[in-house]
Amino acid sequence: VRQDYDEVSSYSAYYVKERINQFEPTKERPFVLGLPTGSSPIGVYHKLVEFYAAGEVSFEHVVTFNMDEYVGLPRNHPQSYRTFMWNHLFKHVDIKLENVHILDGNAENLDEECRKFEAEIAKLGGIELFLGGIGPDGHIAFNEPGSSLTSRTRVKTLAYETIMANARFFGGDVSRVPKLALTVGVATVMDAREVVIVITGAHKSLALAKCIEEGVNHMWTVSSIQMHPKGLIVCDEDATLEL
Ligand code: GLP
Repeated sequence: VRQDYDEVSSYSAYYVKERINQFEPTKERPFVLGLPTGSSPIGVYHKLVEFYAAGEVSFEHVVTFNMDEYVGLPRNHPQSYRTFMWNHLFKHVDIKLENVHILDGNAENLDEECRKFEAEIAKLGGIELFLGGIGPDGHIAFNEPGSSLTSRTRVKTLAYETIMANARFFGGDVSRVPKLALTVGVATVMDAREVVIVITGAHKSLALAKCIEEGVNHMWTVSSIQMHPKGLIVCDEDATLEL
């Protein structure tokens, strides 16, 4: 538990930086990092960019896989997760274009796109560290309540709560929020050798309580972190309200 959003961001960014720096990459085995979007990780990305500018970390041998992407939004739409990642992280650091993996929500065959994504992860020997956030309903990536805890990357219909929560990014207009997304599965995240989840704000406090104080269950998909041998939740004081 850290005091506020800034401290959660600094701690998490420091943690990721240390992991990248401790890892000894080879050509066959780069550091494979899973990444989220949303307002939660913006502070972490900001700090990582600062670390990069100060020469404290490099992304030269880092390969990334993003958790999710909306279906049907143009690639360069301001709210696409691709645009988000370029604006908040990728364009500011030395990551190689070919090392960035973001699901293509405009692929002709969406199922095939999801299969390819899983295959790419497997080819690199799996994900070293998956950084994540959660929705107020406890969803991880777009694994909405009721998602199988053994799910893999797939097309998912968004829950009404998620559409409502994300309408703020579409001028408050619910009708403009895509209704489908491509998302890694719960198992895709939990297969990572390490999982770090950032949770801030009182509006996430119920989800945090359900995640760690109740049983593992598919209605609060982030609760699956309880089964992970190396799962870490970094939260702020506000998020602990219901604990
Ligand atoms: C979306 C994303 C999730 C993210 C969630 C919370 O639903 N698919 O990966 O965790 O938003 O976003 P925020 O951090 O803005 O609360």
